[in-house]
Amino acid sequence: IGQNLKVLDSTVSTQEEARELAEAGAPEGTLVIAEEQTGGKGRMGRKWFSPKGKGISMSVVLRPKQPMHYMPQLTLLTGVAVCRAVRRVTGVMAGMKWPNDLLVDGRKISGILLESATEDEYVRYCIAGIGISANQDHEDYPEELKPIATSLKIEKGEKIDRIQLIAAIWEEFEALYALYQQEGFAPIASLWEALSVTLGKTVNVTIASGPVTGKAEKLDPSGALLVVTEDGRRVPVFSGDVELGR
Ligand code: BTN
Repeated sequence: IGQNLKVLDSTVSTQEEARELAEAGAPEGTLVIAEEQTGGKGRMGRKWFSPKGKGISMSVVLRPKQPMHYMPQLTLLTGVAVCRAVRRVTGVMAGMKWPNDLLVDGRKISGILLESATEDEYVRYCIAGIGISANQDHEDYPEELKPIATSLKIEKGEKIDRIQLIAAIWEEFEALYALYQQEGFAPIASLWEALSVTLGKTVNVTIASGPVTGKAEKLDPSGALLVVTEDGRRVPVFSGDVELGR
């Protein structure tokens, strides 16, 4: 990862930069990092804000030889890489909220966005985007985000070394991606489960058939979140926003 590297001062979104490079034939591992995004994107059409020079915004081009329906597994894998690197480099004990938010004491510290381009159900390429609140201060957040967002600097009480963290993330990612290609998703799922702050909790989530409430039990082999409802049904959740209860 990062053999091919594009570092930008400012861009609309590293996702779009990486997509253009991928369309032009950039190899797997091509990495785009920006100091500032003017149109950072989150999941489900949301925006991702990050003040210049304080956050980490980056996207990597991946070319997994897999059908489309494996992509949620790559999202979870990316989350594990970020979580392990954050813990190792900063000591901040972030945990995973399904599918791929990193939380510290219930507040969001990082989000991951995976987008893929497909052809006949196969993945042509996918772009894994990572946003991290690294050196943001409390006053950098708009009022509505203050209660729900935090940064590594706020949690650790001192500035963190962004370069060291970026290097650690891609080191973790490479090792996990190799493991995934050799042994499949099972070992990744175990690592994700061990870092989870979702499992064992009561969750609310809306899926195609309507709202579901139940206890988050574990990941199923595809990476879906298995929720056990009060009447004992096991519902696999493939996408959506999970609201955490106790
Ligand atoms: C989310 O939490 O909804 C996902 C946020 C993903 C943000 C990252 S920052 C780098 C990359 N470029 C983007 O525009 N978005 C992702």
